[in-house]
Amino acid sequence: MKGNEKLIDKLNYLLEGELTAINQYMLHAEMCEDWGYGKLSKNFKDRSITEMHHAERLMERILFLEGTPIVSKLDKMTIGSTVPEQVDNDHDLETKTIKDYNDAIKLASEVGDNATRDILKQILMDEDRHEDELEELQDQIDQMTLQIFLSTQV
Ligand SMILES: [Fe+2]
Ligand SMILES: [Fe+2]
Repeated sequence: MKGNEKLIDKLNYLLEGELTAINQYMLHAEMCEDWGYGKLSKNFKDRSITEMHHAERLMERILFLEGTPIVSKLDKMTIGSTVPEQVDNDHDLETKTIKDYNDAIKLASEVGDNATRDILKQILMDEDRHEDELEELQDQIDQMTLQIFLSTQV
């Protein structure tokens, strides 16, 4: 099915964001692993894997719409050098992602592609959950102090 060009471009823009998130979250997970925070590492890695599934679904959809998935482009990565920076940077990326998905859902509706809109809405629910998970971590760091929080993450 020949899809709307503007929507295909937007899906490629979302794909670029997902590929960026996969790498940022994976590196944060590996840094935490290296510091011995295994529990926190898994928390970061699970999000990275979910973003991989999102990238997969976007590629499938772009191909279905007879577009070309662009996998060679990455957005600027914001790698945190401490745990609070990692959590804050990932939170900021989720906030941007939620805005991007909402914009794309609006465009899909405007061009009358409701199936694409529904796929984007499903992904958006995961991004909402991600933002919430990161806010939980921010709250825990604030409330417990960083030192106590980290002692719960080994
Ligand atoms: Fe995602
Ligand atoms: Fe996400």
